Amino acid sequence: MIEFCGLRLAHPIINGSGTFDAIAARRAFGDELLERFPFSAFVSKTITLEPRAGNPPPRLWEAQAGMINSIGLPNRGLRGYLQHDLPHLAQLPVPLITNVMGSSESDVARLVEAVDARPEIAAIELNVSCPNVKTGLDIGADPASLGALLRAVRPLTAKPLIVKLTPNSADVAAVAAAAEAAGADAVSLINTLRAMALDPVSGAPWLGGRTGGMSGPAIRSVALAQVSAVARRVAVPVVGMGGVAHGVHANALISVGAVLVAVGTENFRDPCAGARIVEELKSLQIAGSASSGVNVPGPQPEVEVNYGDSS
Ligand SMILES: Cc1cc2nc3c(=O)[nH]c(=O)nc-3n(C[C@H](O)[C@H](O)[C@H](O)COP(=O)(O)O)c2cc1C
Repeated sequence: MIEFCGLRLAHPIINGSGTFDAIAARRAFGDELLERFPFSAFVSKTITLEPRAGNPPPRLWEAQAGMINSIGLPNRGLRGYLQHDLPHLAQLPVPLITNVMGSSESDVARLVEAVDARPEIAAIELNVSCPNVKTGLDIGADPASLGALLRAVRPLTAKPLIVKLTPNSADVAAVAAAAEAAGADAVSLINTLRAMALDPVSGAPWLGGRTGGMSGPAIRSVALAQVSAVARRVAVPVVGMGGVAHGVHANALISVGAVLVAVGTENFRDPCAGARIVEELKSLQIAGSASSGVNVPGPQPEVEVNYGDSS
C-alpha cells in the first residue's frame, strides 16, 4: 500500500490524464476491466468550464520515438462531465482524480468548487499547461502567477490538490516550489513538451493546431531530469511521468524521488501497459532489495514501437 495525500493506493502506477479512456475501455472489456483495473487511481482527461471541440485535424504526428499531439483538450465541459462521465467513472474500483484546467482565476475557481462538491471525486489535478487569457503565457510557466492562482483557489477545496506542472518553463523546480508554498498537496510532471512537425510535401505545419505536445520515449530523459530537480526541491509528493513504457522506467522515476508514476502514451500502444508495468516494477524492486536494498534503475530496454498511423 502507498499513502498518497491521504489516499491509500495499492501500487504506485496510475494513468496520465487524457491517455486512457476508462469509459470506452469498460464498454470494450466489460466488468473484466473493473476486476483487473490497471491503475491504483484513475486520472480523468482534462475538463474545462465550457465544452471544447478540440483542434482541427490532423491531430497526431508520429515522431522518431514518440508522438506529437494537438488534440486540443476536447471535452464535454464541467456540466457534461458531472452529468455524463462522473457516474461511470465513480464505478471504477480505485480513487478518482479529476483533472481540471481554466484560463483565468475565476474559471479555475468555479471548476475547483464544483469538483469539491462531489464526494465521488477523491482528488483534483490542476493542469496549468494552459495559456493565460490575459498574458498568453502558460499559467504554470511563471512561479509568481502560479502562486497567485493557487492562493486564490486553494481555500476552495479540502480535497488533495495536485498541480500538474508544465515542462515548458525556464525553471520547473522554482515553479514547483511556488506551488508547494501556495498550498499544493502534490505536484505531477511532466506534461507534453511543445513541438512541431512539417508536412514533408508542402512544408506547411502538419498539425491542425500548428504546434502540439511531444510525449512518449523521446521525452523520457527530460522527464527524469525534471522529476529529479523537482523532488530535490519540494517536500510534497511528486507524481512522475514521461515516456514510461516498462518497469525500469517507472523504477528510474521512483529512484529520483517520484512517489507515484503515471503511464501515458504507452497506453495507446498497449492498453494493458499499466498492469504489466506494475508487475515489472515489483520484480525489479524484489531483485533490488535482495541485492542491495536500493532501487536500481537498471538498463533501459531499447524497444521498437509504433504509435500508429499519423496520416
Ligand atoms: C493524446 C494525449 C492526450 C493528453 N491529454 C492530456 C490532458 O487532457 N490533460 C493533461 O493534463 N495531460 C494530458 N496529456 C499529457 C499526459 O498526461 C502526460 O503528461 C504526457 O503525455 C507525458 O507522459 P507520456 O510520455 O507517458 O505520454 C495527454 C497526452 C497525450 C499523448
